[in-house]
Formats: sequence, C-alpha cells, structure tokens
Amino acid sequence: MRYGAPMPYLRKDRYFQKAKKEGWASRAAYKLIQINQKWSLLKKGMFVIDLGTSPGSWMQVIADTIGPQGRVIGIDLQPLNISLPPNALFLQGDLRDPKFLDQIEKIWPQKADLIVSDMAPKLTGVKFGDQFLSYELALLALKTCLRLLKIHGNFVVKVFPGQESEGLYKQMKVAFSKVATFSPEASRKTSSEVYWIGLGYKE
Ligand SMILES: C[S@@+](CC[C@H](N)C(=O)[O-])C[C@H]1O[C@@H](n2cnc3c(N)ncnc32)[C@H](O)[C@@H]1O
Repeated sequence: MRYGAPMPYLRKDRYFQKAKKEGWASRAAYKLIQINQKWSLLKKGMFVIDLGTSPGSWMQVIADTIGPQGRVIGIDLQPLNISLPPNALFLQGDLRDPKFLDQIEKIWPQKADLIVSDMAPKLTGVKFGDQFLSYELALLALKTCLRLLKIHGNFVVKVFPGQESEGLYKQMKVAFSKVATFSPEASRKTSSEVYWIGLGYKE
C-alpha cells in the first residue's frame, strides 16, 4: 500500500478468516451471533424474517439456531448463492414493493417471533446521502414489523445514526417495551453502524 493512501477494508481480517473456516457465507455472521449472545433472541421453533439476506450468513445462523421446527424467510435485492436447509426460504426482490409482504403472509400466515434487518444501501460515500438511504431502509423494516411481527415479538435493525434516525428511535420507543443500542465487536472499526434492538412489540 502506498504511504498515505486510504486504508482499504482489511478483507482478510480475523472475522473474515474465521467465517471462511467455519462455513458462514460472510463475516457478518458474527454480528448476529454476538447480538444473540447478548440478547438471547433466537430460540428453537421460532418463525423469523430476515430482511437484507444476501450473501446469507444471518440466514445460516438463524436456520441453525431455530432448528428443523423453526422457519426463516429472507428477502434481498441480490440473489442468494448458498444452499439452504429445509427450514429456510428466500425471496429475491425489493422490500419496498408491498407485494413481498403479501407473499410472506401467504406463505406463512402466522406472525413472526423475530424480525431482523441488516439491510444497507449501496453506499455512495456521501455521508448525509448514505445516512438518509439507510434511514429509509430502517424505517421500511420497522413498517414490516407493524404488519408481520407478533405482539411481544422482537426486532433487530441496522442503523447508521444521523439526524433522521432520531425520529426512528422515538417511533421504536413507542412500538417496543424496551429499545437498546448494541455495537457488535465484529462490526468493522471503520463503520458507524449500530444495531437497535426492539424488545417486546406492543402494537
Ligand atoms: C450488509 S448486506 C446483508 C448481509 C447479510 N445480513 C448477511 O449476513 O449475509 C445488506 C443487504 O441489504 C440488501 N438490500 C438493500 N436494500 C434492499 C431492499 N430495498 N430490499 C431488499 N434488500 C435490500 C442489499 O442487497 C444487501 O444484500
């Protein structure tokens, strides 16, 4: 690397190597593993919705933890290039298109115990623009809860905190009994992402 050149992502960092060795689709697996270690959100037999699935490591962690009696359904703009166990189903598409919520409801008419969103936009490098796009995706994930999350269910959403996200935080405080902020150790040190954990859905 040239002296003074911007630091590239350390693609082969500890979590990258660990994910490769342990068979996860990406290093992002450890973010959900660490969220779950702290908050114990995943239980056997649950129905989970995974928003922003690709390349698929969260879905792998979820499918493994909920076991064969559980169900996980995921959606992403991008295709998924991993093989899925029988308890997992993937839809390719844009969550902004309401037909996908209809489709999820048709496939599994019961409400979800847990909705997780690791959705992120294609980053442009323009800080405020990127924060706004991320905010819109987090809001979309919260709207998905209004329709598909069961009462007392839980929610995890990736956020890049900015001006707009304050309003979103307030909406989460209304919708959930408790809202916590968590920064997994596995998040890249260069990333400003945090996860908001909504516990005990109320409405
Ligand atoms: C950080 S990646 C998710 C990584 C994933 N949790 C994993 O463990 O492999 C973010 C994903 O959000 C997806 N995404 C962004 N906007 C979306 C939208 N409107 N509808 C569905 N997926 C979207 C992107 O295509 C991208 O694959």
